[in-house]
Amino acid sequence: MALDLVSENYSEDRGPVAPESAPIFPLTPPLNLAKSTNFTRGQPFDAYATMRESAPVMWHPIESSEGFWALTRYDDIRATNLDAKMFSSQKGGILMTYLDEARRHPLLHRAALDTMICLDPPHHFKLRREHMAYFTPGYVAELRKKVDIEVARLLDEAVKQGPVFDLVEKFSAQLPLFTLCEILGIPAADRSKIIAWMEMLELAQYTLEQEELGNIDPAQIMHFLTEVQALFDYGQYILKMRRIEPQNDLLSAIANVEIDGQRLPDEYLDGSWLLIVFAGNDTTRNSISGTMRLLTEFRDERAKLLNDSTLLPYMVNESIRMVSPVIYMRRTATENTEIRGQKISEGEKVLMYYGAANRDPLVFEDPDRFDITRSNAKDHLAFGIGPHVCLGQRVANMQLEASYREILKRFPNISWTGEQEIAPNSFTHSISKLMVDCG
Ligand code: HEM
Repeated sequence: MALDLVSENYSEDRGPVAPESAPIFPLTPPLNLAKSTNFTRGQPFDAYATMRESAPVMWHPIESSEGFWALTRYDDIRATNLDAKMFSSQKGGILMTYLDEARRHPLLHRAALDTMICLDPPHHFKLRREHMAYFTPGYVAELRKKVDIEVARLLDEAVKQGPVFDLVEKFSAQLPLFTLCEILGIPAADRSKIIAWMEMLELAQYTLEQEELGNIDPAQIMHFLTEVQALFDYGQYILKMRRIEPQNDLLSAIANVEIDGQRLPDEYLDGSWLLIVFAGNDTTRNSISGTMRLLTEFRDERAKLLNDSTLLPYMVNESIRMVSPVIYMRRTATENTEIRGQKISEGEKVLMYYGAANRDPLVFEDPDRFDITRSNAKDHLAFGIGPHVCLGQRVANMQLEASYREILKRFPNISWTGEQEIAPNSFTHSISKLMVDCG
């Protein structure tokens, strides 16, 4: 791979503090979307609705950093996602903002950029193609057999101590981890470390924010730094082992990819590892947990499912639409352009709020209602669309279906007790605790 793909060698385009053209839909952001703690009560669907109505292309400043355009309408987000030439993932990456050199964790920062999700054509597809054999319908159907067994095992374990338990701890965090490790080829003995690293990653934004404010115990920071290092050391170790002894797993595919005759440099091994561990775990886990809240709040929909289990695949689409576990993805304009009449200059950041698109009333009638027979639920954008569309969507849908088929069969009255914790994170909706009662 051409060395100029390593992030140190491409410009880390941070975008301007203020936009070049005045906003045509002036609106003070109804809530600071850059602040992780503003997401601990769930996604701000009311704020999204105000933005969609009054300022569908809204300028959002960030204190002492570069601002961005926030998109909230379905059509705009779909079109932006599809136009990878105009809206780059590589120029500046996919996160709202990257901390400046003094404040960031160098390894985490670099790995977050040196990864497939932050590449544009032609290199993006060359790397994506190498992953694809592990996401085909045939592969996922085989995987389903193991997933069904694991679902049953986890549920047996979960109720051993009684009918009330934390669904995240006992189930939603465990199943995606199991599935991902099966795809990647990670030995069972190493799997629990990955859960701890996931929790640490979900809190990374908050930890670094708190460090800057001097609000955090130095021992906690030390622990964070040690764990980040351990995550990457393990990734390098296991990927390099697969170069020596390739196996039939996704880690071996990543380790041995050749692009333009060259193997991935170490930076891309770190980045590929970080991407797959985060993308494959966190999102599905939060969809499983979020679905439990929906089935508790919308009893009539649960009753339909209990009467007719053929509705399960539709329920899966509808719950991913409603939960939208990835809050946003960012792009950067490669030329001067316009969205909905708003001039956007080259180099300006554009963020696509998927949860807002998925509740756009122009596309989804009565969008806040969980309706498992909604005819167009599958058109949701929670997996993105276009060249970077989620590689793992079949795996995610399969796990959700397998989970709820068995959960509802065993515990038709299972309910969320109302107790939950959501980690401070403005990028993914991260449910870290959700108490349920199997009744
Ligand atoms: C409900 C669960 C999931 C949701 C909502 C979700 C969401 C997304 C979204 C929105 C993107 C698009 C990124 C962009 O446009 O820049 C994406 C990409 C990706 N997802 Fe998922 N994801 C889920 C599950 C998974 C799983 C289970 C895996 C792997 C086992 C996975 C692996 C990936 C990868 C590798 C990419 C990068 C694709 C590329 O850049 O070409 N995802 N995901």
